[in-house]
Amino acid sequence: MQKLIELITLEVQAAFKSAGFDESAGKVNVSNRPDLCEYQCNGAMALAKQLKTAPIQIANAVVEKLSGNATFSKVEAVMPGFINLNLSEEFLADYVRKMASSPKFGMEEPAKPLKIVIDYGGPNVAKALHVGHLRPAVVGEAVKRICKYNGHDIIGDVHLGDWGLPMGLVIYELQTRKPDLPYFDDNFTGDYPKEPPFTVGDLEEMYPTASKKSKEDADYKAKAMEATVKLQSGVRGYRALWDHIINVSVNDMKRIYDKLDVNFDLWNGESSVHEVIPGMVQYLKDGGYAYLSEGALVVDVKEETDTKEVPPCIILKSDGASLYNTTDCATIMERTKEYDPDMMIYVTDKRQDLYFEQVFRCAHKTGLSKPATKLCHIGLGTMNGKDGKPFKTRDGGVMRLEYLLRDVCDEMYKKIKENKEISDEEAENTAKIVGLSALKYGDLSNQPAKDYIFDMERFTSFEGNTGPYILYTIVRIKSILEKYKAEGGTIDYSKIHTPASKSEKDLMNAITFFGPSVENAYNELAPNRVCAFIYDLANALNSFYHETKILTETDADKKAGYIALIDLTRRMLETCIDMLGFSAPERM
Ligand code: ARG
Repeated sequence: MQKLIELITLEVQAAFKSAGFDESAGKVNVSNRPDLCEYQCNGAMALAKQLKTAPIQIANAVVEKLSGNATFSKVEAVMPGFINLNLSEEFLADYVRKMASSPKFGMEEPAKPLKIVIDYGGPNVAKALHVGHLRPAVVGEAVKRICKYNGHDIIGDVHLGDWGLPMGLVIYELQTRKPDLPYFDDNFTGDYPKEPPFTVGDLEEMYPTASKKSKEDADYKAKAMEATVKLQSGVRGYRALWDHIINVSVNDMKRIYDKLDVNFDLWNGESSVHEVIPGMVQYLKDGGYAYLSEGALVVDVKEETDTKEVPPCIILKSDGASLYNTTDCATIMERTKEYDPDMMIYVTDKRQDLYFEQVFRCAHKTGLSKPATKLCHIGLGTMNGKDGKPFKTRDGGVMRLEYLLRDVCDEMYKKIKENKEISDEEAENTAKIVGLSALKYGDLSNQPAKDYIFDMERFTSFEGNTGPYILYTIVRIKSILEKYKAEGGTIDYSKIHTPASKSEKDLMNAITFFGPSVENAYNELAPNRVCAFIYDLANALNSFYHETKILTETDADKKAGYIALIDLTRRMLETCIDMLGFSAPERM
């Protein structure tokens, strides 16, 4: 469907033209004074400057041409030369009716779908997922789904931290505890046990223990580094142990990501590019891009227009070891080969902004990625506690992601039980669904780069700009629809009628912002755009609901029109929350 704003603009442009003016002045915007009008055109002002006349004269002439135009119910010139516009009820209803029966509510498919790779989540194996992993997972998942809905072809990769010193630390710590395991016996040639020699709980305890020891004991650290080198150079027993570490750790991660409804297409990691690093290094040397600086191999990435210092991208440390940059550059090279993407998106904490700037410049400069490939970093703000500092447990520790989600769901359970008679089992299931919405919406409704405060009371409230409020609205609609269907009613979008009240018109106007909002969310990689849209839509629906007798309406056609309109609203809300990565229960 043609965009609403374009349709309106065409009308106003034609009016400028027929009044004898340049039609390009007829661009229409959504009103920034919704108390005065729905849309506005400010073109007369700029034009008046050019023509050295009073803007109000131009505006008046244009308004005259628009009088009687079926698109508008009100066209007004106001000082100093604004043109205020309201849509006609018939035109609006007609547009909404068409949206209701069009795929994707009338949104156009992109001329050419882009191939996109999104790198998000980024957990390190052998460590429990904690609150720091919330935003990369939740924002990444939403961005992925938003890109998909906009018609693009997107692949999500978790990009595990699975290759560096942490692996050596765990392996060496295990060796000190169980030196007799066959993995450490160089002469062992048999098959290694299928069962891992540790549980996920062991792993989560071993890693911090080892990490602490290595900071206090140089010999311990040297041994752990040795283990890392042995692993990376392919020593059989070490690889077998590493496989166990990955399996145990990834299984546990999947369990928690499942609870968050976060799903990856690829479970690749830093290790996945290990084999191609030597070739990449050679390529960078041969191309004259990389040179030795204080023993390290680096690529210069500063640019003349830089206002801050951008240090070189280090490809290899002076001892020849690879590092975070190395695996990221090699991953860009591999993704280019395998998918030839139009865009790669990275979702991490914003403290990695400069790091990604370096890596992206390096990739473009050296041809590891194609010049046309857009490389984007979504740098995330921090989730803080009420004290404005990064969120901690009550005793000051790092909160596990799993426990955070559990606490939110527990709080939701309490509220649901307080609200109404409901079995424990149903309350528990509902609390899981609503709790997830509270946590995710609380995060996604903020701009990705902004810090925000985790506020349990506010996030789990059924009122205000929250996930539970959105779900409550959906459930409210569902319950009306159910009653209507029980009376034998059916949903028929052709029944959507000319709005009979201000609140009905407001609801229709809100509905028309679906496409622009979802498109903006994609263009800006900003899920908060979708949140803002559904919050407005839910508010419009609730005002309409409070002012309108829907089920008791005696005029059957009118009633069918109301029902069609609220069902359209429900579908839109559900489509949007699916984009955000959560769902609604049947009742709550
Ligand atoms: N594992 C990294 C960390 O904990 C995040 C990985 C982000 N993705 C990437 N391609 N570098 O900081």
